[in-house]
Amino acid sequence: MTTLSIPAAPVDRWLAAARERRSRRSFDGQPLAPEALEAVQEAVERWRPTDEARVVLLRDAPETIFRGIVGGYGRITGAPSALVMIGASDGPAAQASVGYLGEALILEATALDIGTCWVGGMYDSKAVGQHVELASGERVLAITPLGTPSERLNSAERIVYRAKNPKPRKPTDEIAAELGSSAWPAWARAGVEAARIAPSASNRQPWRFRMADGAAVVAFDGPESKIVSKRLDCGIAMLHFEIAARAAGVSGAWELLEHRSDVARFALGAA
Ligand SMILES: Cc1cc2nc3c(=O)[nH]c(=O)nc-3n(C[C@H](O)[C@H](O)[C@H](O)COP(=O)(O)O)c2cc1C
Repeated sequence: MTTLSIPAAPVDRWLAAARERRSRRSFDGQPLAPEALEAVQEAVERWRPTDEARVVLLRDAPETIFRGIVGGYGRITGAPSALVMIGASDGPAAQASVGYLGEALILEATALDIGTCWVGGMYDSKAVGQHVELASGERVLAITPLGTPSERLNSAERIVYRAKNPKPRKPTDEIAAELGSSAWPAWARAGVEAARIAPSASNRQPWRFRMADGAAVVAFDGPESKIVSKRLDCGIAMLHFEIAARAAGVSGAWELLEHRSDVARFALGAA
């Protein structure tokens, strides 16, 4: 069974980054500072929670790896670097693992003041393939640009921006039934609140949480998607959940599940 946990995660740093992060699509075209790239590379090497997923830093990312209508929404422009998120396969465990590990690195990049945007569909896998060597069976499942967003916000602007633009997300009751009831311990409630603000493809927020025998279980809603796996989105939410649970004093690990739409179960004390 594949289990995912990052016991040494810098929880406060990543929780702050989770609240701050927005997808950024337009960058200033300038290379990132060598120290910033070094810090990203160190993070890539340090956080390896599973063999199901790995991430490669492309220091010089050609713009051709990003697809999309020129000038249209979603087109990534001016990003000097990128992270390539690779699954050991395109199977269920790899999808959830790539979401989980990729989000850890995206939050670390955010904490380093680097702009990011998960890109699950709009990249050119052939162009990416020319820059990373894939082992047999491996698949690129997503990429993210890394760079300085063209429009930088100073700290005062960020506060206003956050107040005026709360993240458009589903109400908590929709992603976790009766979250206010005693069935949900405080750590699990904190986990769901943090998962709620996670990014997802087309902002579809497919994660659904329930408590079963004292453990939190995450599943995706509706049918699986053929373009970007909903398990990948759930992996992202799982990373958010885990760091919030840890901040609330509980440690654990996600055990991946493959039955129907179940994605994983958070086993307490297993980390
Ligand atoms: C797995 C995944 C794939 C995504 N693919 C794309 C994409 O191809 N193009 C794009 O512009 N945004 C993409 N996004 C970004 C989402 O649209 C974005 O996360 C969502 O709208 C929420 O906005 P936020 O990230 O600013 O909170 C993707 C996000 C995820 C998690």
